Amino acid sequence: MREYGPPINLAAWVRDNEHLLRPPVGNQQVWKHSDLLITLVGGPNERTDFHDDPLEEFFYQLKGEATLLTVADSKFEAISLGEGDIFLLAPHIRHSPQRPVPGSLCLVVERARPSGLLDGFEWYCARCGTLVHRAEVQLESIVDDLPRIYANFYASDPGRRQCARCGEVHPGTNAARWHQQLAKQFTLARIEISLTVNGQPHCVLVDPAVTLVQLLREDLGLTGTHVGCDTAQCGACTILVNGRAIKSCNMLAVRADGGDITTIEGVSLAEGSLHPIQSAFRAHHALQCGFCTPGMVMIAFELASRRPQANERDIREALVGNLCRCTGYEGIVSAIRAALRELRGK
Ligand code: FES
Ligand code: FES
Repeated sequence: MREYGPPINLAAWVRDNEHLLRPPVGNQQVWKHSDLLITLVGGPNERTDFHDDPLEEFFYQLKGEATLLTVADSKFEAISLGEGDIFLLAPHIRHSPQRPVPGSLCLVVERARPSGLLDGFEWYCARCGTLVHRAEVQLESIVDDLPRIYANFYASDPGRRQCARCGEVHPGTNAARWHQQLAKQFTLARIEISLTVNGQPHCVLVDPAVTLVQLLREDLGLTGTHVGCDTAQCGACTILVNGRAIKSCNMLAVRADGGDITTIEGVSLAEGSLHPIQSAFRAHHALQCGFCTPGMVMIAFELASRRPQANERDIREALVGNLCRCTGYEGIVSAIRAALRELRGK
């Protein structure tokens, strides 16, 4: 009855296996030797191979975001998986999961392959979309079999990686180069999104793998949003999306399509003077180096609009995902309490 052992607490399992859910391994199977292959896959992981699974695959994006790049008839398409999304992929769809967000986590469920049912792994030319190489294998272990297949293609001489149609040589392990070329050649791989940032409408073409903080800093020049850890832990990149505080290093830009974004640049009052939250930070010595400050201010901003009655305990809870290496937090908490009081008119 308990052939596969007692129930497993997923969060505890993830904590115990965290070291395996990031490069260079990146994935780990929960139960071995069952007919359901239940695997947790972590980011970051950028790849160029496309999997031809003869059976369905189920995806549940638990944390962060990811993109499934698919190819058919030399045409690439990006399917965006947001945090909390589930997705069922039909058999034989050539797909390449891209997980650019460090610390992202996806639960993938596949079925064990009966003897004789082979999986394919394919590599395509980023210039013209032609199939360059295909390997077939009787998959025994998702964790152990794949590295061998990849190594075999990546270590092959350039002649074997050359596209028979256009002559382009697949860059092998240099996934970044392959993706850059893909983005250049296949503008369809880029997605047009519209969003409002600090009251200004924007319409931009984005690579499906670009995070929201990259879009804000690199494309829109809004460098007030900082990047500390890039792994959804420090909170330096906190902004508001539709009034909710989120870590923008942990959200793909395409997911912000249609969104209303506020960054630290949008906090100052219209005439350019400091917002009461910013003034309170100054008055209460709530910053030293200032690196964490934009994220802290955005948390305070969310509290002011959603929970203006927040007490000290609420404030400390709201700040739990935002780290400061300098201040000891007392000044930050006092500043937010004072700002909320002032904004409530007390
Ligand atoms: S940079 Fe996003 S949480 Fe640290
Ligand atoms: S003021 Fe330096 S990290 Fe917070």
